[in-house]
Amino acid sequence: MLVVTNLQKIYMSGLLRRRRTIAVEGVTFSIAEGEIVSLVGESGSGKTTTALMVLRLLRPTAGKIEFMGQDIWKISNSEEVKRYWQKVHGIFQDPYAAFNPLYKADRILYQALDLTLNKDNNRLTTIREALHAVGLRPEDVLGKYPHQLSGGQKQRLMIARCYLLKPKLIVADEPVSMIDASSRAGILKLLLELRERYATAILFITHDLGLAHYVSDRILVMHKGKIVEEGRPEDIINNPQHTYTKKLISDIPLIMKKWDEFADFHLKTKG
Ligand SMILES: Nc1ncnc2c1ncn2[C@@H]1O[C@H](COP(=O)(O)OP(=O)(O)O)[C@@H](O)[C@H]1O
Ligand SMILES: [Mg+2]
Repeated sequence: MLVVTNLQKIYMSGLLRRRRTIAVEGVTFSIAEGEIVSLVGESGSGKTTTALMVLRLLRPTAGKIEFMGQDIWKISNSEEVKRYWQKVHGIFQDPYAAFNPLYKADRILYQALDLTLNKDNNRLTTIREALHAVGLRPEDVLGKYPHQLSGGQKQRLMIARCYLLKPKLIVADEPVSMIDASSRAGILKLLLELRERYATAILFITHDLGLAHYVSDRILVMHKGKIVEEGRPEDIINNPQHTYTKKLISDIPLIMKKWDEFADFHLKTKG
């Protein structure tokens, strides 16, 4: 469904735009329908840059991104771009930055409905259903400004957008890293449910290999802009090939253990 080939991004920064940072280099991967693929790496490894390029928000310096056979950087008319953003949707790390402080929560949902081609006339009902699906009571969020909502509520609101848009692919860039620990399991579970319900594929971006191990079908390990290892979660954890992957694993045995307990407790036993 998504095929990324030899992707590269070089940032030019500084006063004279002469400082070159090779943020992403020779990145190649693909994602099948309904698949959850994690992109794992430490801060600065190029994960967000990759996400922004896949979301068609940042133009690559080189390489190609094809979605369902179409080169996304060859799309030029704005209607087609909108359609792409319906099919490939982003959820970001910082639920606070994702909202315009001057607009009520309703707006983010109506905007999502505007992106869908389905012009049903019962918009409020559709929105209420999406809110219920993500465990929010409409009366708790509708009519509220972003500062009146918690981080967890805002992240659920972003996922409610996905229930409205039914994207084929969600690019989730560290979706739970700024959420307090107690709400994380619930948010992750919603993403997994979305996949169950609509066969939504997810590019799950995280610095936490333990978390990636838990949620994904396949893991890509990113280091200094390159993908250094790719495999099934069990293989990556039990038989890492690259020294960087080994380092990631040795750094997190405790967290791993915590995530396993966490998974058992919150995600399995609660059904
Ligand atoms: N707008 C920018 N201008 C210049 N350099 C950038 C910019 N955004 C990111 N970088 C650099 O690109 C590299 C990759 O960053 P990023 O994609 O944000 O990594 P990650 O999401 O894995 O933390 C880093 O070295 C970062 O400093
Ligand atoms: Mg990032």
